Amino acid sequence: MHHYGANAVQMKHTQADASRQVLDGLKVAVLLVGADRRVSFMNPAAEALLETSTQRGCGQDVLELAPMGMTLQGALIAAGQGATTTLREAVLRLPMRAEEITIDCTVSPLGHASDKPFTIVELNQVDQLARMTRDTTLLERQGAFNQVARALAHEIKNPLGGIRGAAQLLDGELNDKALREYTRIITHETDRLSSLVDRLTGGYGASERKPFNLHSVLEHVRKLTLVEIPQGLKFERDYDPSIPEVRGDHAQMVQAVLNIVRNAVQAMQSRGCIRLCTRARRQCTIHNRRHRLAVEASITDDGPGIDPKLMERIFFPMVTGRDDGTGLGLALTQEIIARHGGLIECASRPGQTCFTVFLPVEDRP
Ligand SMILES: Nc1ncnc2c1ncn2[C@@H]1O[C@H](COP(=O)(O)OP(=O)(O)O)[C@@H](O)[C@H]1O
Ligand SMILES: [Mg+2]
Repeated sequence: MHHYGANAVQMKHTQADASRQVLDGLKVAVLLVGADRRVSFMNPAAEALLETSTQRGCGQDVLELAPMGMTLQGALIAAGQGATTTLREAVLRLPMRAEEITIDCTVSPLGHASDKPFTIVELNQVDQLARMTRDTTLLERQGAFNQVARALAHEIKNPLGGIRGAAQLLDGELNDKALREYTRIITHETDRLSSLVDRLTGGYGASERKPFNLHSVLEHVRKLTLVEIPQGLKFERDYDPSIPEVRGDHAQMVQAVLNIVRNAVQAMQSRGCIRLCTRARRQCTIHNRRHRLAVEASITDDGPGIDPKLMERIFFPMVTGRDDGTGLGLALTQEIIARHGGLIECASRPGQTCFTVFLPVEDRP
């Protein structure tokens, strides 16, 4: 019996050591905060970020240790009520430092039902990346873009009929089943484009509001891209099977994601890896509105990165870094995401460009 007990103690020890090692090894800064807002633990990443030591930091009020204005205070209160909050691009102003640090901050409750509740504060510095968030100012500029898009859509619509007709004629001439797969793709894609154009020109009210799973959108785009570029390109998938359905227009969403993936493929010159990742997000703020539930999808490529000169403007129409570019791809993507109540962000550095889409999930259908 005695022997047994000693083993159990040792086991507990090893587990604690392992957890400790994990915390020490994390790149994200982690703070443990008590109900009195005093910090009771910080990992080495937190010490580095906040430019302090565990000895000095522990016992301090977290609002003083990590001065982020009112936002953190609100998130701590929410955590006290059991809610997790993510503050994106919060500004951290350390007293000893001239410049501000931009961070993503997640505040979550730990054992808040017990009599000794704690709050976990995670701080992730984001400004080593050139990062850009599109906000309401961009939405205001969308009006002008909509007009351009409509005019353009009109111009696209005309040749589509011709392409479709020609593909059908060709289909009739082909005996090889494998080749007819290509004509089928042409017809299918022209149909998709044409219905998209219809919706663009026919006013946005006409777009569909049906439930769909974002995975079906990503998979459609992935397969389509692999048909276009069968060699040199690799897709990695990291899907969260629990993501809820979103409501909207499937065809438009395919177009939105396709524009992002096409850019990645072009930037990587058709060789490299594109990673598709999805996550369900609780308590997500999109355009200043808190949503109980949202879906996040990110598309990351390992290409050369976005030209820093363009970074601030890539979502604007007619902004392009390519000789044969129109600069409409990302503008349209942003427009489609916005129409779904969502948000698109981008972060880029050489070797890693990531577009992240957040889409709200409606509480009631
Ligand atoms: N994944 C990426 N990697 C590098 N640059 C990118 C990426 N995505 C977009 N860009 C830059 O953003 C510009 C705008 O893209 P977009 O709006 O689709 O217009 P276009 O593709 O017609 O240039 C591109 O020309 C390119 O310079
Ligand atoms: Mg493009």
